[in-house]
Amino acid sequence: MKFFLIGFMGAGKSTIGKYAARQNNMTFLDLDKYIEEKHGKEIREIFAEDGEPYFREEERKALLEVIDLPGAHLVSCGGGTPCFFDNMDVMNARGTTIYLDLSAARLTDRLRNAKSKRPLVAEVKGDLQIFVHKKLLERAADYGKAQMIVAEQNANRKAVSEMIRGVISEMEAE
Ligand code: S3P
Repeated sequence: MKFFLIGFMGAGKSTIGKYAARQNNMTFLDLDKYIEEKHGKEIREIFAEDGEPYFREEERKALLEVIDLPGAHLVSCGGGTPCFFDNMDVMNARGTTIYLDLSAARLTDRLRNAKSKRPLVAEVKGDLQIFVHKKLLERAADYGKAQMIVAEQNANRKAVSEMIRGVISEMEAE
């Protein structure tokens, strides 16, 4: 059983994912961390030294590896994971995708604090909210393929965890 949490940078995928995995007896996996451990360097170093296209290929490989792991996993994806190759189709075919749908305003607020850690955000020269708004529009079609979409007011640990519990009970009842 695989669940994939998707959404823009700063949507809370890791925080919500860790909690929801624990509550539902699944192993939590952060795709960025998985890539960092595999490569022995941070995502921002991979972007800087090898470039984004290389990162996207490695992200794709990591996704396929994680999908093939035995057992129940809740995977927190990178913000761009659904938007490259046919990653979204693969995730939909092999598990349940959940999109944390936060507004550009809310995401911008959250990202301001962690600005330098994320390579795409660190590069932004102009207004951060305009960048977030544009990127969200670019990514909307991919994010919109998620099987479940969580509205901003429900994008919290408890609500998402309960939503996942509901899906698991339905699967078990089948
Ligand atoms: C990215 C999001 C990051 C990370 C990389 C690229 C993106 O993950 O994968 O910096 O393209 O949105 P988080 O969403 O966990 O910050």
